[in-house]
Amino acid sequence: MDNCTGNLLATAILLSAIIFYRKLICCKLLSSYTTPRLPLGTLGWPFLGETLDFISCAYSDRPETFMDKRRLIYGKVFKSHIFGNPTIVSTDADVSRSILQSDAKTFVPSYPRSLTELMGKSSVLLISGNLQRRIHGLIGAFCKSSHLKAQITCDMQKYVQESMKSWSEDHPVYIQDQAKNIAFQVLVKALISLDPGQDMEFLKKQFQEFIAGLMSLPINVPGSRLYRSLQARKKMVNLIHRIIQDKRSSLDSSFPKDIAEIWLSDASQQLTDDVISDNIIDLMIPGEDSVPVLMTLAIKYLSDCPTALQQLTEENLRLKRIKENLEEPLCWRDYLSLPFTQNVITETLRMGNIIIGVMRKATKDVEIKGHFIPKGWCVFTYFRSIHLDEDAYDSPCQFNPWRWQERDTSGSSFTPFGGGQRLCPGLDLARLEASIFLHHFVTQFRWAAEEDCIINFPTVRMKKRMPVWVKRRRDNSCSKPKH
Ligand code: HEM
Repeated sequence: MDNCTGNLLATAILLSAIIFYRKLICCKLLSSYTTPRLPLGTLGWPFLGETLDFISCAYSDRPETFMDKRRLIYGKVFKSHIFGNPTIVSTDADVSRSILQSDAKTFVPSYPRSLTELMGKSSVLLISGNLQRRIHGLIGAFCKSSHLKAQITCDMQKYVQESMKSWSEDHPVYIQDQAKNIAFQVLVKALISLDPGQDMEFLKKQFQEFIAGLMSLPINVPGSRLYRSLQARKKMVNLIHRIIQDKRSSLDSSFPKDIAEIWLSDASQQLTDDVISDNIIDLMIPGEDSVPVLMTLAIKYLSDCPTALQQLTEENLRLKRIKENLEEPLCWRDYLSLPFTQNVITETLRMGNIIIGVMRKATKDVEIKGHFIPKGWCVFTYFRSIHLDEDAYDSPCQFNPWRWQERDTSGSSFTPFGGGQRLCPGLDLARLEASIFLHHFVTQFRWAAEEDCIINFPTVRMKKRMPVWVKRRRDNSCSKPKH
């Protein structure tokens, strides 16, 4: 081939490539104006989809790598196939906010089968419509009441003091176990007015068996994880039914003492004993899991960040001294009044991602900000990627409570408690309990933490249950103990 023919051929190839790409771009532009597009992505293997890759990343110390890899190729919203369903994954703050704020006619909750079998069919987390709104509203009103906040403060102080009194300087204290024990007792008291004792111990034991199966394989045969968890649930339901029946016979509806009594006094007739017991068991989950994990992670991050620990300790010691001088006990408003302590809790919620995200199913074809979600597909709003997004936070993997001095928590990039109609009704309580725990811990002890790491799947927790060596404070300075 001579030079001239070669040049002609090269020009022809170049021209056809340009024409081809122009056509492609025109088609793409046209289609994006006319029909919303199914997000890019792959559905993985038949049946398994991309679940194995999702789970193997979830067990690592950077679970968001599953999302990161796909975000790079397909963008912040992409399609996948996880937990047996074709799924649109959103790691985009605005798209996730729109999904959370959509009404119950567009999206309904959708969770893996083991979880739905264990939660009970009337669980507020799984139902939609009138009953969900009714139960949510009653829990929300109760959680906001100053009566409950005062009671929680009093119970928390009592259980925290009892627990901390028994801590020894000769053995490590396992913060995660201590926090679970305290928060479970506080929440069960608020739910059914049960005090520590035999029934409480029984509930605690059954509950641990129950919660272990929440993300298990959906195989319900004698001996399987799910089977054992369902058996534990049955035992809890029996105990709760007995407590509810006792309450019914002596109910004073003008002064309900706990959530169960509020539900029993509800005039709507929708709240049968089964609905009440399903929801009481589900409400124990934050008591055994989310709230104590929040407390534990706060201690973990503070142990790794001495300047934040020092500032938080000084703030709490100052409050303690003021109240001692006034000879007044601390009330719930005092605990929530400390700005830096609240910033530490906010930053712990951002980095800890105790709930990694929420899952919904589309009940009809939906378009959200140009992304098409077909009817019957799941959507997974993955909070973790948003909370660790460099577009939203500077040095997102760094624990930096000071960042919250300049920004508030209402933006779409901060959703540890979800949003919309299902926004967590217990968010104030979670903050209050964490503030009380932190106050008593830092004002009574100095500590040195042993090496430990965070496990993120199936639930967030510390691998070694967060062992720390404590020393009781004999003065009010902030130096560290030597071990
Ligand atoms: C650190 C602690 C907590 C975290 C991170 C947390 C997180 C969440 C999230 C993300 C949701 C939204 C679920 C969805 O949209 O499907 C939620 C819902 C819920 N939370 Fe919490 N929560 C915490 C503590 C609590 C506490 C203490 C209570 C109890 C009083 C509670 C009761 C509920 C209930 C009843 C719902 C269901 C609301 C509904 O679907 O209508 N949570 N929580």
